[in-house]
Amino acid sequence: MSAALYDETMGFYAKGPKIGSPDGPFDTNARFQAFGYAIAQAINYAEKAIGFPLRILELGGGTGQLGNSIISCLENTHEYVVLDPSPGLRANQKQRGLHAIQNIDRLSPRPTFVFGNEVLDALPVHRVMGMGHKEVVELYVDLDENGEFCEQPSFLSTVELADRLKGERVQLGRGQVAEICLELKTFLQSIGKVVEPGYVIFVDYGDSASNLYSHRHRNGTLRSYYHQQQVYDPFFAVGQQDLTADVDYTAACFIAEEIGFEVEGPVPQGTWLRNLGIQAYKGSTGDRESDQEEIDVLTRPAGLGSAFDVLIFKTKGLPVGPGLQPAP
Ligand SMILES: C[S@@+](CC[C@H](N)C(=O)[O-])C[C@H]1O[C@@H](n2cnc3c(N)ncnc32)[C@H](O)[C@@H]1O
Repeated sequence: MSAALYDETMGFYAKGPKIGSPDGPFDTNARFQAFGYAIAQAINYAEKAIGFPLRILELGGGTGQLGNSIISCLENTHEYVVLDPSPGLRANQKQRGLHAIQNIDRLSPRPTFVFGNEVLDALPVHRVMGMGHKEVVELYVDLDENGEFCEQPSFLSTVELADRLKGERVQLGRGQVAEICLELKTFLQSIGKVVEPGYVIFVDYGDSASNLYSHRHRNGTLRSYYHQQQVYDPFFAVGQQDLTADVDYTAACFIAEEIGFEVEGPVPQGTWLRNLGIQAYKGSTGDRESDQEEIDVLTRPAGLGSAFDVLIFKTKGLPVGPGLQPAP
């Protein structure tokens, strides 16, 4: 998954796919200016709580559209940095005038507002399978006798996989497949080092470990999309299709707490956006109907409003995170 998405030349994201175009990944929240408006309100709130100036760190900036929307809606000018491992997407972000970087290690600890939309679900995962009697094997990628990719079960590559399941009191049934994202830990740790103080906010899809690893997901949640169609085969058109897996909120929150963050959420996206005051959004076109349509699409409980959740990690001592209390 790591190579298929992020190999420097052949990886799906490394090539800079046109998010939202017919042969690219699905459009995300990022395409709606109203979403950027709401994030800007969260940043204004953080500025009041932490002080001016703030550094804004956007994780996984995609096309750069969200960065542009947020900046255009901010009350004050802050340093805005986008972190993205994809050379192709960084090029797009730079073209839009954003300061895009590849490596977080270059950033020093500072008052920071961190935001990532659909980034955690794009981190590579390990796949494991229950064998009964609490035994678990890992499913490796191998080549079959025809030289085609296939899955090959074998011993776990690292005890961390078993430790994660044990820590979450998960016992996989015989033949039950599950994804485990170990990269969550290093990723959140690297963010923890540069946020002093600050809020770290993720919008993503996922669930608690007890739901994610229940019988409802006997085949795991790894999904592949080619030209915006789900193809049910992670080995099809490798490097040309998107791969994603649901985020384990339990693991993310546990790791965040270990690092020293206070954890808030998950809250449904719709509730969070309404609490931030998205209803006051007015687009540049002056077309109130289309503004309201954007707001509805993002907040509707039967749609994106409940498909995505918001996780907030804050450094100790800061007021409750933005968007957790209803707008006055
Ligand atoms: C599904 S796309 C979402 C892009 C954008 N946030 C949006 O909502 O349109 C996932 C993004 O996360 C980036 N990404 C993957 N791993 C990352 C990492 N370790 N640090 C920062 N960004 C990462 C990808 O390159 C890509 O830009």
